[in-house]
Amino acid sequence: MWIQNDVSAQPYNTFGINNYFKTLIGVDKVSDLFYIKEILKEPTTRILGGGSNILLVEPNVHPVILIDIKGIGVIKEEAEYALVQFGAGEVWHDAVQWAIANQYGGIENLSLIPGKCGAAPMQNIGAYGVEIKDILHSVTAYDTQSGSELVFHNEECGFGYRTSHFKSKWKGRLIISSIILKLSTKGYHTLNSSYGAVAKQLEERGISNPTIEDLGDVISDIRRQKLPDPKLLGNSGSFFKNPIIAESVASQLQATYVNMPTYDAGVGEKKLSAGWLIDKCGLKGKRVGETGTYKNQALVLVNHGKATGKNILDFSKDVQDSVKETFGIELEPEVNIW
Ligand code: EPU
Repeated sequence: MWIQNDVSAQPYNTFGINNYFKTLIGVDKVSDLFYIKEILKEPTTRILGGGSNILLVEPNVHPVILIDIKGIGVIKEEAEYALVQFGAGEVWHDAVQWAIANQYGGIENLSLIPGKCGAAPMQNIGAYGVEIKDILHSVTAYDTQSGSELVFHNEECGFGYRTSHFKSKWKGRLIISSIILKLSTKGYHTLNSSYGAVAKQLEERGISNPTIEDLGDVISDIRRQKLPDPKLLGNSGSFFKNPIIAESVASQLQATYVNMPTYDAGVGEKKLSAGWLIDKCGLKGKRVGETGTYKNQALVLVNHGKATGKNILDFSKDVQDSVKETFGIELEPEVNIW
């Protein structure tokens, strides 16, 4: 465990906001959590992972806990699957690469998603037809109220589109220390290559029987083209969630906007593409001072270098207003505003 005072927050958030943390505590083993249990009980204490899903608006005067618990281990291996445990502080993409290199399948579609393993179940990360809920076995978390470690199996986590109980009813109470994924072993992989852009890329490369490596490569390439590298241009991936609306409302909109993409989202509901809606408002690649939307994907807000959290928040509200005015749809941020 380590403690630093008055540190720049810039290296700790992928938006690259130059804010500060009054007290930053780095936790690299589970026992540290028990040691700082009184600090963890405070509702003002914040938990930081890879900083890829936060927008820092205010300076953080209360303690911020950086979860840096590492380790990858196979805890059970059967013929068709393996249970693999990842420490919450492992970088998610490193975990994906480790799995592919060791011939474990199931997370290759989640290549290059920013952040760390502990944050992955929080918002049920998903991309290209796969969500972590599809392969998650269980989550181990420290309960700040009782000071004990708890295990939650998949069905207890309340997973939904970009949400879970960790993010909603248990928010602020639990600190994820590790996750266990149920991954397929060599010869038993079920590949998901049906997503339009993925299928197209595989075809262009003349790959008809893709391996998990092929899928990881193709998806990494697609993401590199569509999403900015935070090291070069600050961003936190999708800023808003894709809105889920009643099927009847989606049909009405489609009568006017015939090309509007919609996706099934359960009985009587449809999911719309927030990126498409923002783009249609003429806001793709728009720049306002130091902030704006990314030129290749309107759902991604960017920091051109010197934006403050407030600049980005204000711009995000303008985007919400535009979409509301044009389509009558409310966009909800996916990122956490600190
Ligand atoms: N579109 C536009 N203009 C844009 C952006 C998108 O017309 O500026 C259209 C696309 O042409 C497509 C549709 O909108 O028809 C959907 O776009 P895309 O396939 O890029 O996916 P998305 O819904 O915008 C979601 C996730 C991404 C994930 C991709 C791929 C959310 C909020 N975002 O984006 O996740 O990588 O699907 O599966 O669900 C993230 O969470 O940070 C993230 C990047």
